[in-house]
Amino acid sequence: MLSRHTLIWLFLLTAVASLVFFIIVPQVEPQVATDAATGRQLVKPPTEMATSLPTATPTPPPSETSPPPPTQEPNRPGLSSGEGEAPPGAPGGSSPGRGSRVPEGYIFPSEIVAAAVRVPPSYENWSIHLVNLFHPLPEVFMPSLQLIEGRYTYNENIEYYYDARAVSALQNMLKTARDEGYPLYVSSSYRSKSYQTILYNNEVNSYLNEGYSEAEAIYLGSMYVAYPDTSEHQLGLAVDLVTADHYWLADSFEATPAFAWLQKNAASFGFVLRYPKEKTDITKIGYEPWHYRYVGQEHAENMVKLALCLEEYVAHLATNR
Ligand code: DAL
Ligand code: ZN
Repeated sequence: MLSRHTLIWLFLLTAVASLVFFIIVPQVEPQVATDAATGRQLVKPPTEMATSLPTATPTPPPSETSPPPPTQEPNRPGLSSGEGEAPPGAPGGSSPGRGSRVPEGYIFPSEIVAAAVRVPPSYENWSIHLVNLFHPLPEVFMPSLQLIEGRYTYNENIEYYYDARAVSALQNMLKTARDEGYPLYVSSSYRSKSYQTILYNNEVNSYLNEGYSEAEAIYLGSMYVAYPDTSEHQLGLAVDLVTADHYWLADSFEATPAFAWLQKNAASFGFVLRYPKEKTDITKIGYEPWHYRYVGQEHAENMVKLALCLEEYVAHLATNR
């Protein structure tokens, strides 16, 4: 027969073992995020939720270069708001929808960015400067910008700016597309950090308002609107392209003749489709058939030939120098 004293000890031991097994052990499972460009891994134990949204700090002049926040919600693939400035009433697309689960080991954008080193674009390799969660822009960053001219903007009342070194390539591409019967319009180009922050917060908040958990809202929200300082729109080399018939940002843009034209011709003007469908694991951004990035003709043609996204291409160049 066990003594009362022994029984109490057994009970306490069982209680402690359960605590360790069911509560502590699952939480020390490490989370891993891999930078595809360098192979570097961010390994961390789970922490509490990174719930606070980034603050939209005023950027130094010329902050007027960014368009005002959209007054209505643009439509994108099933998501309720987004990065463009498309007018209301545009059809939506397919949705990740309710029940979209945050993958196991998911690390919040704020945590990846906090652990990353912020490197400004170099003089030599400015056109292939990588900007993503693992490679955020410096806290204060302002590219040299130039107005996009030639009536290529979707909203004629908004002035759109682009990196001054690449604006003529963009205008050439849009002129050629128009001359060949595929008029394309810019619905977003350079964005200030404060504007990107507003878009990001709006996106996350829209999911919270729909009843998603904070983790889900951040996961879904950052899928199509990059966390502040990780957007190529802040770099000044990203452009969102639409047509008069398909001005909303959705997967269905890929069915337009203008998209087919871009597929065939963008690289010869130095542009690549930045977030391809089959590369979302690497880019950490959903498929965006409307979002193009200037990298220069030679790099663009190589990337197409090798079927590499920018993360892979930068890694490829580093190992094949
Ligand atoms: N939509 C892209 C990912 C951006 O916000 O930069
Ligand atoms: Zn974009």
